[in-house]
Amino acid sequence: MHPYLIEMLACPACHDQLQWHIIERGDRHIETAEAQCKGCDTVYPVREGIGIFLTADLPREDLWEQVDSKLAQYLSTHPDVERQLMDVPLETLAPADQFFRAMILEERGDYAQAKTTADIARTTIYTQEYLACSDEQVNKALEYLSAVDGPIVDLASGLCHFVEKMARNLPHPIIATDFSPRVLRRDRRRLEFFGLYDNVSLLAFDARRTPFRDKAIKTLTTYQGLANIREPGSLLQELRRIVSDVFLVLSIFFPEDDAANKAAIDELGLASLLFRRPALAHFTEAGWEAKVIHSCFGQARPTPLGVVLDGAGIDALPVAETNLEWCTVEAKPATRLAHA
Ligand SMILES: C[S@@+](CC[C@H](N)C(=O)[O-])C[C@H]1O[C@@H](n2cnc3c(N)ncnc32)[C@H](O)[C@@H]1O
Repeated sequence: MHPYLIEMLACPACHDQLQWHIIERGDRHIETAEAQCKGCDTVYPVREGIGIFLTADLPREDLWEQVDSKLAQYLSTHPDVERQLMDVPLETLAPADQFFRAMILEERGDYAQAKTTADIARTTIYTQEYLACSDEQVNKALEYLSAVDGPIVDLASGLCHFVEKMARNLPHPIIATDFSPRVLRRDRRRLEFFGLYDNVSLLAFDARRTPFRDKAIKTLTTYQGLANIREPGSLLQELRRIVSDVFLVLSIFFPEDDAANKAAIDELGLASLLFRRPALAHFTEAGWEAKVIHSCFGQARPTPLGVVLDGAGIDALPVAETNLEWCTVEAKPATRLAHA
């Protein structure tokens, strides 16, 4: 993490100030440190450049730990399957298997080949409309963000698809965040490989309990992140506490009359943020003024299953073909509550 972040951070548990003990600095990043809360004494470490601000009380289902170790474990006990995935011409693999091959290449640190493979897989896994809408949404957001100043904090950054686009196209310092330290360690290696790490800080925390001081963030973003946060509870109130200017939310919304997908969404417990009307209502209830600033529609199909990795799936949604809305919401702290 970059030293400028020290001014923005506080204890995620009690919001008191942190006492910093910096142990090792790199050229630009703090590599190793300890931050002790002056109020509750909790110590938060910085390791391998990643600030770890996780609190013990929130349950955390870290799918990156589970998926990565399951896949690695499976392949180590099935070397024949690994050969069928990795040692054949790419075009002979089913699209989902091409995608899994990209994941394995990335795990092995072969980032260039992983990216080429994933790009090829995406063209058949997703419909053309899906890819076009997704690109349009990202490009419009980059245009919007080029006009803001100061650091941009991105929430639930995962494999940093959006962070990477920002780091390639914007001069701003960027803070990528996720509650999985594992995915952030992976991000660091990939960003370093592509020469994009200099401007990026990595922080591990739960979006429902963030380590930022009140109004410390001018610009917060999230790309398909909100709907991945289970049991969001008062998530939007917590985010309102830390944002002073704008929260740019890149989302996908499902049609409300789409019974098959609605049932699957309900079962995953994600309903509130995957439909436009309730999502916007939640923002209003949590003290935001939210408006849609960009929208486009495209057909989406369920992602195909693996053949070599028999039956393995990619995206949980959609479960049936549907017309999705790619929607960017600009949310600003409502003045009504800002003066309260
Ligand atoms: C699939 S990613 C979204 C795409 C990502 N923004 C990108 O640009 O590539 C969703 C991420 O949300 C993270 N996540 C889920 N619940 C979270 C929480 N409560 N706090 C922080 N991150 C969370 C997951 O670990 C996952 O990496």
